[in-house]
Amino acid sequence: MRVLVTGGAGYIGSHTVGRLVAGGHTVSVLDSLEHGHRAAVAEVPLHVGDVRDTALVGEILRAQRSEAVIHFAASKSVAESVADPGRYFEMNVTGSLSLLRAMAETGVRRLVLSSTCAVYGTPDDLPVAESSPIRPENPYGESKYLMERMAGWFEGAHGVRTAALRYFNAAGAALDGSNGEDWRNAENLVPAVMKVAAGRTPVVDVFGTDYPTPDGTAIRDYVHVLDLADAHVLALEYLMGGGRGATLNLGTGQGASVLDVVAAARAATGRPIETRERPRRPGDPSAIWADGRLARDILGWEPRHDLAEIVASAWRWHTSHPDGFGSSAIERRSPGATPSGVLR
Ligand SMILES: NC(=O)c1ccc[n+]([C@@H]2O[C@H](COP(=O)([O-])OP(=O)(O)OC[C@H]3O[C@@H](n4cnc5c(N)ncnc54)[C@H](O)[C@@H]3O)[C@@H](O)[C@H]2O)c1
Repeated sequence: MRVLVTGGAGYIGSHTVGRLVAGGHTVSVLDSLEHGHRAAVAEVPLHVGDVRDTALVGEILRAQRSEAVIHFAASKSVAESVADPGRYFEMNVTGSLSLLRAMAETGVRRLVLSSTCAVYGTPDDLPVAESSPIRPENPYGESKYLMERMAGWFEGAHGVRTAALRYFNAAGAALDGSNGEDWRNAENLVPAVMKVAAGRTPVVDVFGTDYPTPDGTAIRDYVHVLDLADAHVLALEYLMGGGRGATLNLGTGQGASVLDVVAAARAATGRPIETRERPRRPGDPSAIWADGRLARDILGWEPRHDLAEIVASAWRWHTSHPDGFGSSAIERRSPGATPSGVLR
């Protein structure tokens, strides 16, 4: 299958590109490289540009004769979205609208969307099913829900069938440590813990130690990035096989507390990893984990990597790439890109 991956040079996107290529699909990437890295997708053509440029997206879709799109390109910081909501609606809503319009114009009718459990806000019941109330508590979650809703209208009008995948907490790295999350941009717990294990920062801040959870710290559903990547390939194949539009949680169905993650990281790294108690952060739910049955039923997706594998693979990546993709030794040119890196 010929697939355009927007944001494919980023963390989850580049792992998905790897899985698509391994599965025999023909892949090209559109990424602004605001947070992505050329070296993460060195094996496929990379078009450096902005998904909000509808003409550029249409041009790439036509030139590649794309049959489907996987849309990762977005801004993803919750804190930044609260401080600057306009940027989030611009990047995530306008960006998705631009892509949908280009797809409608070029007749590309299969779309896999990166959505998030942030659409649920603080859930009433656990685990969280797709039918749970939608109550985003920040502009980031709201922008992703608006993206899902827009895609629904494009299905009715233009036949763009969409699988919207609501990820829980993406974490971990390629098992051989060759690809992972660039911790210079990452605000998530696993990279923060790894920074302390590596001696880059002295202590892990634990925000909230008085939650109504067994150890008092917040619980999340950590899902390995390779499992997420596999789910995208399955979703694409499901849509190409005639599957109907669907909205699916991608989580393991198991929660881990902040202290569980720290303990798993201590075991994987052999480092002490100090923690410091801090007050709760506004808008952080005490616990959230997924009811992932629908993705298993519809896609046949089964997460294969546990928390121990998440932290062990992340440690392999961070120790072999202490500056992420920042070290010049690993920057390489992608095939198929023009000198400026832009297709046109
Ligand atoms: N990481 C998580 O835990 C998580 C959880 C839920 C949902 N998501 C969603 O998954 C997607 C990928 O997340 P990630 O963790 O890989 O983030 P990332 O920042 O590593 O990847 C996003 C990529 O999109 C590119 N990009 C951003 N805006 C663009 C634009 N306007 N045009 C072209 N390219 C653009 C960036 O350069 C980057 O390479 C995002 O949509 C995010 O909202 C992530």
